[in-house]
Amino acid sequence: MKELPLNLSPFKRLILLDSVSSTMDIAFRLARLGDRFVVVSANEQWSGRGKGNRVWFSNHRSLSFSLVIEGKILHKPSLLSVLSSVMVKRGIVSYLAIPVELKWPNDIMFKGKKLGGILGENWDNFAIIGIGLNVNNLEFPSGVESAVSLRQILGKEIDKMELLRSIIREFSLDFESFIKGSDSLISEWKKSCSYIGERVRFKSYNNIKEGIVIDIANDGALLVSINGKKRRVYSSDELVTER
Ligand code: BTN
Repeated sequence: MKELPLNLSPFKRLILLDSVSSTMDIAFRLARLGDRFVVVSANEQWSGRGKGNRVWFSNHRSLSFSLVIEGKILHKPSLLSVLSSVMVKRGIVSYLAIPVELKWPNDIMFKGKKLGGILGENWDNFAIIGIGLNVNNLEFPSGVESAVSLRQILGKEIDKMELLRSIIREFSLDFESFIKGSDSLISEWKKSCSYIGERVRFKSYNNIKEGIVIDIANDGALLVSINGKKRRVYSSDELVTER
């Protein structure tokens, strides 16, 4: 284990670990002990978690980290992943200058392929934001659908720690707006969202519903029109197909 100071207010410390079950587990343990604004990154996760309790594939070529935060956004759970994805996008763009897109609520996409994802977990007094990106991956296991890595996009090895810092820097630079859930960040998310106006299918209580994405609401819900009726979809519902 290595611990480095992070002068990216409010984030104070970066903990670097080699192999862990999931950075979510370590961040949770620290948060339960009262730790806040700590970033936990691991070289490898052997039990990485994705949205909806799915397995998240990652290895030493991936970037896997979790942030422990507290503040107002805790009361708007749907916004946590949505606004975090804006910060992750900014971090990738400022370090690597490639056009990434966002897919509601938590996917980072490049030309329709998944570059990474965000897992937001809200607890009573803190939240954990887990960020996983395909960075230097050269291939993916057969069960992993339509994924792409930065290395595949750019054709060169990427410095994972510089990318991590670039993402934390973006959280740090606009932390007030992020924690308040500001409208300007929601607008930025909308501009980066490639799905507005498109037909989507999503799973809700085990039923598959189909509709057209109209907008995103200020609480982070996706507004979908189903047979002319407006319906709010929260991130606990699952978007199963798109495009
Ligand atoms: C998703 O798209 O389903 C979300 C994936 C989130 C993966 C990250 S990797 C770091 C952190 N640790 C985990 O076990 N999951 C998140």
